[in-house]
Amino acid sequence: MTLLAIETSCDETSASVVRGGTILSSIISSQIKLHAEYGGVVPELAAREHLRNLVPVTQAALQAARVQPDQLDAVAATQGPGLPTALLVGFKAAQAIAFAREKPFLGIHHHEAHLYSPWISGDPPTADFSLFQPNVSLIVSGGHTMLVLVESELKHSVLGSTTDDAAGECFDKTGKLMGLPYPAGPEIDRLAETGNPKAFDFPRPLLNDTGDDFSFSGLKTSVRYFLHDHPELLNDAQSVRNLCASIQAAIVEVLVTKTLRAAKRKGVRCVTASGGVTCNRTLRRELTGECKNKGFTLRLADQNLCTDNAGMIGVLAERKLLAGTKPTPPDQEIAPGWELA
Ligand code: KG4
Ligand code: ZN
Repeated sequence: MTLLAIETSCDETSASVVRGGTILSSIISSQIKLHAEYGGVVPELAAREHLRNLVPVTQAALQAARVQPDQLDAVAATQGPGLPTALLVGFKAAQAIAFAREKPFLGIHHHEAHLYSPWISGDPPTADFSLFQPNVSLIVSGGHTMLVLVESELKHSVLGSTTDDAAGECFDKTGKLMGLPYPAGPEIDRLAETGNPKAFDFPRPLLNDTGDDFSFSGLKTSVRYFLHDHPELLNDAQSVRNLCASIQAAIVEVLVTKTLRAAKRKGVRCVTASGGVTCNRTLRRELTGECKNKGFTLRLADQNLCTDNAGMIGVLAERKLLAGTKPTPPDQEIAPGWELA
């Protein structure tokens, strides 16, 4: 099956052509620079930028895959969750392409696509979701932080999620408090490499709670009060690096400890992680080390599949259609608040 997928849930305009579990092309046009001056994503600007970029990005994806529109067997797009006006652009365009070509269309849950993204590349080189099940999966991005039990291919249940801010949001908001550019996650990652993670002791929210929920707003508030009391730290480059390393250490310790605790409790042998924050080098290192120590097989999403991309949408859509999932009826709309079950 040759499938075109579109993703416009937030600030990346992306199109991809997939076939047989392989991403033939994946074009991503990022709007980071556009939103940086506002310190966060401005929904109206994001939608307008998607409108400008979607056609060239889609053409580029088809060209890079050497696929003509009449060779497409199906079309997919992110249906939710996400920014309503941003979702509308990609979802409606994909529905229209499917309608015009009389091909099936499938709306995809953004987090479900992140969930299966660790299985897209690596060994074997084409996506095989049936490996290492059951597993416990950490989805950690700018909008969500959750633990999911994957029982078998396409069968999963959410164990817990954040009760307030997501981990990526915590990186971005604490970074903003330190005057770092948006999104601050990658910048904190970079500065933390030469900082001391033990320099400052920030709280590890819900670390000792036996449930699978997360909470990161308390950590953000604690950093805010700390900087209010010690503004001089922001004038010293090494202190900023130490702050980054200490904040990152708190976030990563919570994510790693709770993921492995859930995996042990559920009796699985495999752990996976996906979503934008999975780009974080300390998180990747700590998960790798802890899984090795405790005897879990770890599957991390490829760096280029961690942040938002249409490739993961397309691979999941193809799997679902081949597994018999019914196409999304043409009268269905976007689902901005769609929760993963
Ligand atoms: O999955 P994603 O691209 O979009 C959402 O679905 O939210 O994730 C974006 C989030 C942002 O909060 C960004 O700061 C964070 O991922 N992020 C990182 C790193 N790279 C991206 N956080 C920490 N370290 C990184 N290297
Ligand atoms: Zn995402």
